[in-house]
Amino acid sequence: MTLDLLDRMADSLEHSPLVRFYESGLCSRPELFLKLLTMEAVGPDRQVKLNGRWVINFGSDSFLGLDQDPRVHEAIRRGLERWGTHNGTSRAFSSVAANFEAERKLASWLKAETTLIYPSVTLANHGALPALVTHHDVLVVQREAHHTIHEAMCLVQGHGIKTATFDNSDPDELTRVLKESRPYRHAVVAVDGIESMTGVVTPLAALRFVAEAHDAVLYVDDAHGTGILGERGRGTVLDALGDYRNTLVVGSLSKAFSCFGAFLASPARLRIPLEVRSGPFIFGGPVPPPYLEAVSTVVDILNSEEYEPLRKRLTDNMTQFLAGARRLGLTILGGSGTVASIAVGPEEGTLREIGRAHV
Ligand SMILES: Cc1ncc(COP(=O)(O)O)c(C=O)c1O
Repeated sequence: MTLDLLDRMADSLEHSPLVRFYESGLCSRPELFLKLLTMEAVGPDRQVKLNGRWVINFGSDSFLGLDQDPRVHEAIRRGLERWGTHNGTSRAFSSVAANFEAERKLASWLKAETTLIYPSVTLANHGALPALVTHHDVLVVQREAHHTIHEAMCLVQGHGIKTATFDNSDPDELTRVLKESRPYRHAVVAVDGIESMTGVVTPLAALRFVAEAHDAVLYVDDAHGTGILGERGRGTVLDALGDYRNTLVVGSLSKAFSCFGAFLASPARLRIPLEVRSGPFIFGGPVPPPYLEAVSTVVDILNSEEYEPLRKRLTDNMTQFLAGARRLGLTILGGSGTVASIAVGPEEGTLREIGRAHV
């Protein structure tokens, strides 16, 4: 009897390097693989119940704790009553008024001309980056940028459009790569605002200087900076550059915002090109309306007097954590935003330290 085709597919996929790595190492020691943890309950002050024990969650990306804010809960309930559970169509057909209201409020908070809400940062990257370049252009990606930017680069390559990468957020390296990529009409340089793995802030001013000298715009994935860096949490770009000249920003509505989705802040003239050229916008379902109501509520909170105490609590927690880690003699990268990376050496040592952290 012939083997079922899906079995054959599973056989071949099980031989891929990533699955082999997972099955040989991490799967045999599930206590080390954070993503297999099941939260049985969630309590106040970032407590979670794992295997019957209450522990503190140091890995939450609800950076300001707004996931537990009663006003955010109330906005979601209000949105549910007003709109039901979902939009019912892709945005190419129609959008609830809550969508435009949230986009307007986000633009006003950010001091940007317009914002476009996508269902996630992943889908913003997958939609907007291929939308921004044509066969006359080039996409240049920071090697350390988030996986979803690299996936977007594969989509761009699939359309037969030129791409390149540059290392270590290095302006000289970016200069070299842009020069080598000529001829092009314009280039898009895609970077993380804060590197998601290390917490290191990308030197945006130096990179924009180079980009502008070479007919390039910056595209900043600021998932970790949104709501955190700069005045009223407006993000890494305004904090570092002071304006959006030749710069597009994608922010997260899921992390500090504790809602759902992402926004892309851009000049008004780019709105229609982005809408009609972004696959996820045309063909995909949008953020559910109750969460859009919550986004507007969070913007009000960020714009209020309450922002500073919320932000201070995060700084205090981070300072306490970093001081403790330093007392233990650990090497720390990042830490100026919400992500700190602790260097524990090669893989074996890393797994051992994760194991220690779980006992
Ligand atoms: C820099 C960066 N980009 C994109 C993402 C993906 O975001 P989303 O969950 O909204 O797709 C993350 C998630 O952690 C991230 O850190």
